[in-house]
Amino acid sequence: MKVLVVGSGGREHALCWKLKQSPLLSRLWCAPGNAGIAAVAECLAIGSEKVDELVAFAAANAVDLVVVGPEAPLVLGLADKCRAVGIKVFGPSAAAAELEGSKGFMKDVAAKAGIPTAWYGRFRDMDAAKSFIREKGAPIVVKTDGLAAGKGVVVAMTLDEALAAVDAMMGDKVFGDAGDELVIEEFLDGEECSFFALCDGKTAVPLAAAQDHKRVGDGDTGPNTGGMGAYSPTPVVTPDIQAKIMESSILPLVRTMAGMGRPYTGVLFAGIMVTEHGPKLLEYNVRFGDPECQVLMARLKSDLLPVLLAGAEGRLSEVTLEWRDEVALVVVMAAMGYPGSYEKNTVIGGLEAAGAVEGVTVLHAGTALKDGKVVATGGRVLGVTAIGATVSEARQRAYAAVDCLDWPQGFCRRDIAWRAVARGL
Ligand code: AMP
Ligand code: GLY
Repeated sequence: MKVLVVGSGGREHALCWKLKQSPLLSRLWCAPGNAGIAAVAECLAIGSEKVDELVAFAAANAVDLVVVGPEAPLVLGLADKCRAVGIKVFGPSAAAAELEGSKGFMKDVAAKAGIPTAWYGRFRDMDAAKSFIREKGAPIVVKTDGLAAGKGVVVAMTLDEALAAVDAMMGDKVFGDAGDELVIEEFLDGEECSFFALCDGKTAVPLAAAQDHKRVGDGDTGPNTGGMGAYSPTPVVTPDIQAKIMESSILPLVRTMAGMGRPYTGVLFAGIMVTEHGPKLLEYNVRFGDPECQVLMARLKSDLLPVLLAGAEGRLSEVTLEWRDEVALVVVMAAMGYPGSYEKNTVIGGLEAAGAVEGVTVLHAGTALKDGKVVATGGRVLGVTAIGATVSEARQRAYAAVDCLDWPQGFCRRDIAWRAVARGL
């Protein structure tokens, strides 16, 4: 089978790395890919948001399955355009991807489906938003309705912070049009996790849960990032909690979306807060998490290709997944300065030695080949991924590999999986 993966991050390297192991695979392309992906797939000079060019390539090359990594091409209708010309695709339609594109839409669907989540209000008027905040009190959470590169969320511990967030988002438009509408919601207290399920429009198969580390600094300090590391399985998601998440937050969503004429096909990523009253939905994303995908792919024993194809063809009820017994953990190496500004084109050495550490795979995110050398081109640059019998073993291997790298302009968090380690795992 011929497969085209869309995207260029660590998530897409993990998907390509896993798909490459499939005996069913005959050819693998990635658009646009990166230096690490180039070792397992043929990289194409087509940006991940060039939807029409991607469809034209897939049609001209008789691609059997398109796998879409990031949300932007989905929101732009890549999956719809593939389906319109008979190309199989694993990813939601633009109508279904609105779950991530509009937080207000997502909250309305969750309410309609009876999914346990924070209470909320949707506002297009600043005075109404502020009155709602004063009425409800702090702590409270203020979000832009639209996509704001993961930054349009303020978890306000005081009334002043919440009111200032409304001024910034709606008054000063610091996130542009994304702030035309705000969602203001209940603050949920608990331990957060990322939960993933595969959906085919009618049904859903649980993948697994992972725990991400969003803040840039050790001890969960500093600004939010795309994610600085993850591990899976995560102890907060016991089998009982997993069953509750499937019953309360995944299956009702799939049924409700189908009933709304927006059937959901693809990976469903539920951000969940495990509270003292059980798991509650924070948000949906319409794609794999990055770096969560890296640890899911490291743990998955089953061949990924027939599973994604079953998803694209509406046959997920036939699928059972097998997992390795080990724990997987990924440490993200980022360019110094990230998530602010950072230097580009710095040379990364020691990749071979890092990849030779037992149980370790070095996945690339923002890298390119320049004069035969691997250089850093993005904020998040590498995902040093390890498996181990325990969280501690996986973590020790990942950091041993990190220490083999020769990249003075890079950094990582040194405390990935601290919650599990604190539990003695
Ligand atoms: P989101 O982009 O909606 O995932 O929000 C970013 C982060 O803000 C989440 O990962 C949570 O850590 C936090 N957050 C979002 N909504 C809430 C909420 N209702 N209560 C507490 N924390 C939240
Ligand atoms: N790591 C969180 C995300 O992909 O949104």
